Amino acid sequence: MGVVGVVHQSCPGYVNEPFASLAGGYPGGEVYPAEDFRVEWGPIFHRGRLDGTARVLVLGQDPATHEAISRRILVGEAGQRLQGLLAKVGISQSYVMLNVYLYSLYGQGGGPRQLKNAPITDYRNDWLDALLTTTDITAVVALGDLATTAYTAWAAGRPSVANGLHLSSIRHPTYAEGAARGSGRPLAETTAEQLANWNEHLPALAAHLEPEAPVDLTPYGTIWASGDLALIPERDLPAGTPVWWRDVAAWAVRSGKDAQQKRATITVTVPKGARTWPPLPK
Ligand code: URA
Repeated sequence: MGVVGVVHQSCPGYVNEPFASLAGGYPGGEVYPAEDFRVEWGPIFHRGRLDGTARVLVLGQDPATHEAISRRILVGEAGQRLQGLLAKVGISQSYVMLNVYLYSLYGQGGGPRQLKNAPITDYRNDWLDALLTTTDITAVVALGDLATTAYTAWAAGRPSVANGLHLSSIRHPTYAEGAARGSGRPLAETTAEQLANWNEHLPALAAHLEPEAPVDLTPYGTIWASGDLALIPERDLPAGTPVWWRDVAAWAVRSGKDAQQKRATITVTVPKGARTWPPLPK
């Protein structure tokens, strides 16, 4: 028996159909070109409920470093910002998340270019069919342009299902950083723009969801405030994962002195706040 009183929760993974077959039949490097994707880190499928209890589907873009280690998507800072958004509309566990791509994008231009890749699209649409055609999901949140394009392409082929779903097409959770880098505009400006965009979409999203926790539609400010980000729930990650994998302090970073080594290396570091071991000899 374990420690009395502590019952941990975890994601059971891909045990039931159709998800067992979807995970078993994932496309590899023959479909996802290694020039555009970090296929060497393996596919990362989802986060959240696959048992029919999801009420909202979130479509993200592609996994990053934290996701490559935790094997669930939207776990790093982008995921924590999104988790905070879901909390505002009263959703604490009834969600499921997919990315447009199973593998992390590599280099420039692959994101839009690979949206036209038919086998990639077919496999993504199989997941969307599995999650949206026979469930009680009432709303879809698309994070950024790639997700919106991928979702609307799926929706065009399934109009009778899609007509019953509310679509919140919002800025990607790390839009502000990307836009500041790409345009030279101050991060403060792009952050304010992103949060204003999220504020615009909050009321309609809330109106199309049945909340399971208190709703708090207090708008975001112009900068991220404490409390805007939320911890990733324990039940979302595989059994036995450390608490700090779900926390906001970054713990995984690509490192290396050149492109070869950087592509081959993710450095995982226990954040200072999680170093609970006794003092070590110097
Ligand atoms: N991590 C993900 O899994 N998806 C995103 O879109 C961003 C970060």
